[in-house]
Amino acid sequence: MAKFLISKSRPLSGEVDVSGSKNAVLPIMAASLLTEGKCEISDVPLLRDVDVMCGLLRSIGSSVNEKDDGHTIEIVTKNIALQEAPYELVKKMRASILVMGPLLAKTGRAKIALPGGCAIGSRPINLHLKGLAALGAKIVEEHGFVEAKADRLRGGNVYLDFPSVGATENIIMAAVLAEGVTVLENVAEEPEIVDLASFLNKMGAKIKGAGTDTIKIEGVAALNGARHSVIPDRIETGTFMLAAAITRGDVLIKNIVPDHVKPVIAKLKECGVTVEDTDDGVRVRCLKAPLISTDIKTLPYPGFPTDMQSQFMAFLTTVTGTSMVIETVFENRYMQIGELNRMGANIKIEGRGAVVQGERLLQGTQVLATDLRAGAALVLAGLAAEGTTEISEIYHIERGYSDFIEKLRKLGAGVTRVEE
Ligand code: EPZ
Repeated sequence: MAKFLISKSRPLSGEVDVSGSKNAVLPIMAASLLTEGKCEISDVPLLRDVDVMCGLLRSIGSSVNEKDDGHTIEIVTKNIALQEAPYELVKKMRASILVMGPLLAKTGRAKIALPGGCAIGSRPINLHLKGLAALGAKIVEEHGFVEAKADRLRGGNVYLDFPSVGATENIIMAAVLAEGVTVLENVAEEPEIVDLASFLNKMGAKIKGAGTDTIKIEGVAALNGARHSVIPDRIETGTFMLAAAITRGDVLIKNIVPDHVKPVIAKLKECGVTVEDTDDGVRVRCLKAPLISTDIKTLPYPGFPTDMQSQFMAFLTTVTGTSMVIETVFENRYMQIGELNRMGANIKIEGRGAVVQGERLLQGTQVLATDLRAGAALVLAGLAAEGTTEISEIYHIERGYSDFIEKLRKLGAGVTRVEE
């Protein structure tokens, strides 16, 4: 098994280019099933999860060709041979569930292995199924699979009890070919929803309101192929902002959309970090000392992103003062706490929140990545910790960060990837 070895880093400095968004490219790739036309997707990040989605589309019947060393993917689905997502792919990547809406809309049937839970929570799909049923699908769950069937989906009204990102995406992708108008309320407003809607509208869909809590979709008879460039990854953006902050460095983060990381910028500024918009990107510097504590509460977009919670917690162990971190989106997203405490942090869970003591002198040791963002938090902690931090189970990290180690090394970090 491969590991990351991370030594205490001098203040990071230089420039880093952020890659395309993992959480935008996955639904957009799934949406390509909605047409027989050619879809060309560019600015694709080099990630395990993208490889898994390519494999899933190929198993369904798509031809998937990678160009520009993988940063451009061409997908043509002339014929859908298999209307299913098998368990071995779904257990590798929960986002496989995103082929359900397109398969149902295009072929009238979709059979998906139930994704089950993961490290951060039970991850139910009840809201996905509620939405598809509202469009006329018959849903049957048995033997660990869920099957949705409909001769022809028809427009309907759906209120999401929680603004689920995946449910919003699945229902949009089903509704674009439904007969009539669909109105979705209390939906997710994430930038990745806007990017998916932008791609679908280029294909000929009629979607209005993406990025707000209400989306209106007028079904069309068919969609065409389209070209699309994926938005930058806002979570990778935030992660590198924190790499600069936790090492007290000076880093220019390029190829980003500052608006997409407003909550992270606001919180860094509350801690005394200098964050400046420039023509080339956002510059993160630490001119004031000491940096001070703040409180974080994760919320659906445009609130503070849950995917940045563990990374920000690692940073808060190094500032002056005590911080409160409250995770409201997932029920079990504090897996990083145990490992951070083994590095010398002092973080206590109290109810739904975590109390983070500051000014901790972290020490490098052997730690385990339990999930993607907890793993990223351990990388950041390793940059600040005395000695060497050895992170195992790094496949969690590599599924969501493209060229992570290379980008950190370019900024002066002492990180290496070793095979056991
Ligand atoms: C997407 O997951 C992201 N993944 C996650 O990023 C992100 O953390 C999450 O949205 C929230 O922003 C992708 O886009 C591939 P949700 P998703 O449905 O769609 C509950 C990362 O690190 N819920 O918005 O699965 C659910 O239990 C990953 O890149 C239901 O109750 O998230 C959770 O508590 C991790 N019923 C909350 O909603 C449902 O039917 C948010 O889940 C669906 C969700």
